[in-house]
Amino acid sequence: MTQPRNPLWPETIWHGADYNPEQWPETIRAADPELMRAANLSAVSLGIFAWSTIEPEPGRFDWTMLDEAFSRLHRGGLRIALATPSAAHPRWLSALHPETVACDANGARRRPGGRQAFCPTSPVFRARVGAIDTALAERYGRHPALALWHIGNESMSGCWCDLCVAQWRVWLERRYGSLAELNRQWWTAFWSQTFSSWDEVIPPYANSDGSTGQWLDWRRFQSHQLCELLKHEIACVRAHSPSVPTTSNLMGFYPWVDYAQVADVVDLVSWDSYPAVGGDPSLTSLTHALMRGLKPSAPWLLLEQTPSATNWQEHATLKPPGLLRAESFQAVAHGSDSVMYFQWRRGRGANEKFHGAILEHSGRDDARVFREVSALGAELARVGPRVAQTQAAPARVAILHDWENRWALEKGAPARDKRYIETIHRHYRALWRQNIAVDVTRSDADWSQYRLLVVPMLYLLKTGAFPLDGAPEELAARIDFPARLATWMRAGGTCVASYLTGIVDESDLAFTVGYPGPLGPLFGVRVEETDNRRAGDANRLVLDPPLAGMRNEYPCERWFDLVRAEGADVLATYGDGWYAGTPCLTSNHFGAGRGIWLGTDADDAFLEDFYRGRCADAGIAPLVAAVDGVEAQERVGAAERLLFLINHADTSRTIMLGDRVGTDLLSGRSVSEAITLAARGVAIIAD
Ligand code: GLA
Ligand code: ZN
Repeated sequence: MTQPRNPLWPETIWHGADYNPEQWPETIRAADPELMRAANLSAVSLGIFAWSTIEPEPGRFDWTMLDEAFSRLHRGGLRIALATPSAAHPRWLSALHPETVACDANGARRRPGGRQAFCPTSPVFRARVGAIDTALAERYGRHPALALWHIGNESMSGCWCDLCVAQWRVWLERRYGSLAELNRQWWTAFWSQTFSSWDEVIPPYANSDGSTGQWLDWRRFQSHQLCELLKHEIACVRAHSPSVPTTSNLMGFYPWVDYAQVADVVDLVSWDSYPAVGGDPSLTSLTHALMRGLKPSAPWLLLEQTPSATNWQEHATLKPPGLLRAESFQAVAHGSDSVMYFQWRRGRGANEKFHGAILEHSGRDDARVFREVSALGAELARVGPRVAQTQAAPARVAILHDWENRWALEKGAPARDKRYIETIHRHYRALWRQNIAVDVTRSDADWSQYRLLVVPMLYLLKTGAFPLDGAPEELAARIDFPARLATWMRAGGTCVASYLTGIVDESDLAFTVGYPGPLGPLFGVRVEETDNRRAGDANRLVLDPPLAGMRNEYPCERWFDLVRAEGADVLATYGDGWYAGTPCLTSNHFGAGRGIWLGTDADDAFLEDFYRGRCADAGIAPLVAAVDGVEAQERVGAAERLLFLINHADTSRTIMLGDRVGTDLLSGRSVSEAITLAARGVAIIAD
């Protein structure tokens, strides 16, 4: 109950949608604010993809649409998240300056059209974006309705043009200092790929082949370039709009941008959540935790979700009644200070006319989706100011996820069947099912609040060997993962690391001190070899004697470390095959903490039982007793704790509350001992 409110953010939970008045005639536009009020919206995202309307020809700005929208929305009491339109650049710009259009992975210029088709490096593109962003900020940057700058939209990486390549060479020269060092780091003597001049250094084009080091640096650079563009845009708007926070909507586990870099550039993290209907709600929770963990110091925003179906997933399944509400409160439970949708109104044409919207093509306010959205908006208006005084409660358990590791693992580690995200999800779900709050943390985050840190498949360890900015001690404190983990464990933290951890450094060069490289002393093990077999070709993890609350044995598959204990206690060994009797689960004292090595992919029952015990050891209790299908999360503020209970099941559930008595903010009823939630029901219990 210690976190002060973030001063960046207004004091309620927003309810809003992407709004594209530029696609509609006056008769429709004029009715929108009234309908939005009926839908109980409090905010809209405006101007995303509106470049060709705002600047119909080079240098001529037409403010008619935005002026009108600002004054109507403001009069209607709605807050505005104003987008910079950089995600989709106009045809005239592509025609005038073809180099603003990105090149594909073969280095061939794409044809203009669509969105995310720009080159982030092109000076002309940057200048044009800067001009329109500056003009927008000059005109609306201090408007009383403006609450947020929405920079670009779902930025993706991906330009392979000569301008980007030239910039990449500059970036590489800064990183390595010399071509000789680059040759060493990329291990270029292999297959005779030694570079003798900077001009020979090209990206790993789709029609060429390169080392993983090269590939990793290209990915790092592409994220860096996107962030440079974001920084440029933010500087432009901030110059005229200094007190309005910035965000850029992310896409969860999207693989190709290092969102940790992006989070450091914006004020608030936001993301677009599109869980499949009938999917696993724990995956949505995990992704909320991932997004929250990118910037733990600030609240985050759910900027998009569909109110009904999508048009781009395998099936355009409708959300059954109640699902939208449950998913919305799930996001809020995880710390979101908004519930927003794509989109306000279905367009009549082009790609997204059948994507769900608050208003269907009929435009009727008595349709099912409109009524559900409106009812949810009324609830949010009622509880929002109180809920917004709180933030996601600090978790004591975290799971580490890292984009650079993901890239290296995919490209550099052995075998094709890796399942990094699936593995993180399985560890997360084992804790989630027990109502243990879990953060997803960055490899450079402050872990002091955690007692248990789960590190699955951290193949690549960042040591900070090639820092681009900053003083050496400050960088070591921030980047040197092995040193930071050692400090945290010495102070009493328990770390659970899995197979495939500690194999290479940040250039994908294997450690030569044995695996897990510099983490060896922390875990008291040496991994001599790792066997990888097809799923289903199982072994047994045998605990002899079993740990408290655990079975004697559990199935395990896919990855089998052959571990030599060097100081660690052996907790379990393999039961079968030619390495039967070899350790696969060990525990090592390290300072006041503990390093647990999980050398194999043990089943879900193992993970649940194992984490139950480790949480108990660390004094971490579930929020409430687990009930299948029910999720519990907590938000805390200076004045109160709010327990969110979400029944994801489609039948009712009863949850025993123990000593958590209080009032359900949604129903207004006081609750004690137990609460029954209908299918997809939600309660927010204030104590
Ligand atoms: C993304 C985009 C939106 C829209 C939706 C459709 O999240 O940001 O513009 O295309 O997908 O689901
Ligand atoms: Zn480019």
